[in-house]
Amino acid sequence: MTTFWSWYISLLTLFTLLALLWLIFATRKGESKGPTDQTMGHAFDGIEEYDNPLPKWWFLLFIGTLVFAAGYLVLYPGLGNWKGLFPGYADGWTQVAQWQREVDKAEQQYGPIFARYSAMSVEEVAKDPSAMKMGGRLFSTYCSICHGSDAKGAMGFPNLTDGDWRWGGAPDAIRTTILHGRMAAMPAWGEILGDSGVRDVAAYVRQDLAGLKLPEGAQADLEAGKKLFAVNCTACHGAEGKGTPAMGAPDLTHPAGWIYGSGLAQLQQTIRYGRNGQMPAQLEYLGEDKVHILAAYVYSLSHKAEAVAAQ
Ligand code: HEC
Ligand code: HEC
Repeated sequence: MTTFWSWYISLLTLFTLLALLWLIFATRKGESKGPTDQTMGHAFDGIEEYDNPLPKWWFLLFIGTLVFAAGYLVLYPGLGNWKGLFPGYADGWTQVAQWQREVDKAEQQYGPIFARYSAMSVEEVAKDPSAMKMGGRLFSTYCSICHGSDAKGAMGFPNLTDGDWRWGGAPDAIRTTILHGRMAAMPAWGEILGDSGVRDVAAYVRQDLAGLKLPEGAQADLEAGKKLFAVNCTACHGAEGKGTPAMGAPDLTHPAGWIYGSGLAQLQQTIRYGRNGQMPAQLEYLGEDKVHILAAYVYSLSHKAEAVAAQ
């Protein structure tokens, strides 16, 4: 801030405070002690106004706000370039710096606790009740918007409490998923297979692979669907359709783990237009130590029995 603006703001602020102080005392002058019968001397529609002094509590509250303002402006930066007497604001006060100070403080306080868990394996951390409490809170804060507060997922977001894993459920796989994120690439088949091809292969996936009934009157050639699947889909979903975790290609024989729906229309939509589910990487955002605890927490959700038995 240039000197001019610094002075401009400072003087304006101080002048306003002084003017308010003057105003409160000026209007208080001449008041009588206690309530009076006197009125202000004007009447509207027969209604008159008593000339009573300001209530004491109101007066004191007003003075209190002025004292607070003065104290605040001495301690904290507020008056132009004045840095305030309070230590640590030498560079002035900003929201970002304040946030950073609090984050640094929290890191100092909690860093050692996180580091202790990082030295343990994911399975061990999953058995530690206080680590799991921390994990639960981290999950609510950073993951529940997508995976749900109960971690059971939603359309497009996988359930993390079941045994179905698109990218693998081993502790290391879960950790890698959270650290570096995942980008699933299911290609669009509409133009390649045409409408009837999409219809046939969708029906094949639903009935023959997933074991779900087709709706009454559904028209599809399951044999043709099977052939199309063998040619186009097995590279990723595997010869038997059981999926390939390295690619995030889900097991198509187990519809409970699907995230885009198992209705024929939903299957056709998935196959016709493809899908690109994305799990955002957390390494830069949360750091390795927090991710370690989160991995253990996610692991514990589908290994509840083990985690509880060990306690
Ligand atoms: C290049 C690899 C690849 C090929 C080839 C492929 N898929 Fe997929 N498929 C994926 C991936 C990866 C996903 C997960 C997409 C996501 O999570 O967003 C997926 C998801 C799906 C789903 C959705 C499952 C759910 O969770 O709801 C269906 C159904 C499906 N594929 C069927 C097929 C069919 C039928 C074919 C052949 C016509 C096929 N896929 C070919 C990689 C592939
Ligand atoms: C912006 C939404 C979003 C947020 C936030 C998010 N996720 Fe995900 N996550 C996804 C999506 C989408 C997938 C599925 C990707 C795919 O299609 O394969 C996924 C997949 C996963 C998987 C793999 C599941 C499997 O079946 O292999 C794990 C584990 C996971 N997330 C954990 C977490 C954790 C822990 C957090 C909190 C740090 C988190 N996610 C935050 C969207 C999100």
